[in-house]
Amino acid sequence: MTSTNIRTRVGIVGAGPAGLLLARMLQLEGIDSVILERRSRAYVLSRVRAGVLEKGTVDTLIAVGAGERLLREGMPNKDVQLRWDGVCHRVSTVDENGRHLTTYGQAKIVEDLIRLREGDGLPIHFEAQVDRFEDITGNPVIHFSEGGVAKALHCDFIAGCDGFRGVSRAHIPGADAASFLREYPFSWFGILAEAAPNPALRGFAHSRRGMAIASARSDKISRLYLQVAPDFKVDQMDDEAIWDELDRRFVDGTSNRFNRGPIIEKSVARLRGFICTEMQYGKLCIAGDAAHIVPPSGAKGLNSAVGDVRVMAATITRYLKEGDSTLLENYSATCLRRIVPTVHWSCEMSDTLHMFPGQSEFDTRMQYAKLDSWVSSPGGQQRFREAMLGQPYPI
Ligand code: FAD
Ligand code: PHB
Repeated sequence: MTSTNIRTRVGIVGAGPAGLLLARMLQLEGIDSVILERRSRAYVLSRVRAGVLEKGTVDTLIAVGAGERLLREGMPNKDVQLRWDGVCHRVSTVDENGRHLTTYGQAKIVEDLIRLREGDGLPIHFEAQVDRFEDITGNPVIHFSEGGVAKALHCDFIAGCDGFRGVSRAHIPGADAASFLREYPFSWFGILAEAAPNPALRGFAHSRRGMAIASARSDKISRLYLQVAPDFKVDQMDDEAIWDELDRRFVDGTSNRFNRGPIIEKSVARLRGFICTEMQYGKLCIAGDAAHIVPPSGAKGLNSAVGDVRVMAATITRYLKEGDSTLLENYSATCLRRIVPTVHWSCEMSDTLHMFPGQSEFDTRMQYAKLDSWVSSPGGQQRFREAMLGQPYPI
């Protein structure tokens, strides 16, 4: 293998929402960065994943100039439907300041940010696998391989935006001991279908057959999820069986049924809650799924990554421009002020909405009581709304 050296101010590992947004925020501060991404460009653009955005996420994307298509195609999401025991309930998710949720796919956000960066002629190295870091407290170096060639990226700062299975977190001494994991005994089977979403069938369905979610990506594309066994395989159910199962789980005493159409994407995700409370060491900070993952029931993962990135951009900017390390020293604590309650809410939603193996009738009745507490009083609705709209940003 030959070896090549390149240099930038901030080396960013990962071209997911966190890495791409950080690069854009630093660019607007006049700080150069290089993004290293182990997957191909096509793979990164085709990952479906998240879809529900908090107002703060929308505002952040608009503020960095990535809001043009989002403002055009994002779908306002002004109430949440919660179904249980065969009845549909609704909670408004518009607060007293008019804030509401927006449905807009993660794949589009990633594409918008990649196009902006490439349009400005700035570097993203796809199929560049980061292996390890060196001299994190002095003059950091990121060692990676690209096209079979070993390369080194020299930088002043490393941003670990490389997701749950990335390499960055392991470079923080003590991160293992400061990491806490909960594995849920089920998975989510997600599908994307060329079928017009039925407005009467949206949101969350608690069902004795397992939870289901109906969301959208446009007025022609439905995004749907079914709770399945942890070892479920995507080809285990044929398409008609998937639609039948969604109809059964969303039953609410009406004749409403899902509009059916070709299923164009299928994936399975395990549900986990994970939190690492050491998010910084020397000139390395980690953000997003690299530091914490939430079970997706609360639709908070991408939104949490955006919260971290805002803190990381401010931290790096202050450190590189002014030599001031105050934000750096407080990086973990600042991020965690928003993250811990968000993980807690996501777990509360997951515990309330899913059927657990061996669940008793008593447990189910307690889930009904919790669901009822979110819809039956102004105070309960207010708590649900605030949690869905998201915690305030620390920075
Ligand atoms: P990632 O998107 O995981 O990006 C990390 C990147 O780093 C990847 O591209 C990876 O290839 C790259 N990488 C990893 N290792 C290396 C390496 N060694 N070298 C180079 N590159 C590397 N969140 C919401 O807010 N709302 C929702 O509605 C929602 N719904 C979801 C539904 C599902 C089914 C799932 C699975 C997730 C959902 N999420 C949701 C969560 C959201 O998708 C994630 O939280 C989000 O992708 C995190 O962004 P990230 O940039 O931190 O990490
Ligand atoms: C989505 O639209 O992908 C979505 C909706 C609700 C969730 C999670 C994901 O809780």
